[in-house]
Amino acid sequence: MSQQSIFRDGLFADKTILVSGGGTGIGRATARELAALGANVILCSRAPEHLEPTRAEIEAAGGHAMALPCNIRDPEAVEALFAAISERYGAVDGLVNNAGGQFLSPAEAITPKGWHAVVETNLTGTFYMCKAALAHGMRQRGGAIVNIVMEMWRGFPGMAHSGAARAGVVNLTQSLAVEWARYGVRVNAVAPGLIASSGLKQYPPVIQAQFTSIAADVPAQRMGTEGEIAAAVLYLLSPAAAFVSGTTLKVDGAGSLYRLQGYVVPEHAPWPAWSGDEDDGTDVSRSSRHDVGHVQADHREGANPEGVNRPQEQ
Ligand code: ADE
Repeated sequence: MSQQSIFRDGLFADKTILVSGGGTGIGRATARELAALGANVILCSRAPEHLEPTRAEIEAAGGHAMALPCNIRDPEAVEALFAAISERYGAVDGLVNNAGGQFLSPAEAITPKGWHAVVETNLTGTFYMCKAALAHGMRQRGGAIVNIVMEMWRGFPGMAHSGAARAGVVNLTQSLAVEWARYGVRVNAVAPGLIASSGLKQYPPVIQAQFTSIAADVPAQRMGTEGEIAAAVLYLLSPAAAFVSGTTLKVDGAGSLYRLQGYVVPEHAPWPAWSGDEDDGTDVSRSSRHDVGHVQADHREGANPEGVNRPQEQ
């Protein structure tokens, strides 16, 4: 394991940090960097086969890692997880709620079972983990919690269940930040944009290709990396963020401010309009995005002295 970090050696020495979904993707990248900086890392996931390779990789590099399977949707399993951690390490100093999952589906086709599975994993499971972390040490010793959500600021068409659950986690983050400030517990979230993570490979090739094409609409002109999300998580766990709580840090190459959404609204009849004055002459019968010319600014030096970057005068 050749783990590079922007943070100083030993930053997390003697700290015990639990990373859910720590065996793969963003969770694995976070666990590896934490271990490289001296943390005792505990990896948990519902799928034990995801954990062992990452645990072994961290140990082989001289780090400390423990793997504990746990279904975060089951409150008793979460209690048992924290009891096992208490026995071995005392308590956790940091918790990264990264475990989650969703599937692509139009909202109208999501069954009650599918809805509950996604919301219980991403939102309810995160709540169980936060609550257990408080009860098993953070109430006495303080700590830092980082919840991984996703870019869903304009809804998440195609994965409405996950968008709703992640929005719930952002709000939960704010509530806990205020309620648990008295215990010295900071609670923050990280919202990754389009990330070239191993999770992306779980989607069918046609969807993967769609994600790749969306990257052209990200101002940064590329996807993000798992390491860029891990760095944001480590910052929020670290003393550099000692005055930061209740925030959601977007790590998205400015994509949420600009990019067209991957979801394309199917062709359909324009909605009936309401004017109140039938004779006002306004025609809103159809406007197509193809009718709208794109204004291109010319950024070359000296170009466009009176150009399109100037605000239009009224
Ligand atoms: N990763 C995805 N779903 C999970 C769950 N229910 N518990 C733990 N890790 C998970």
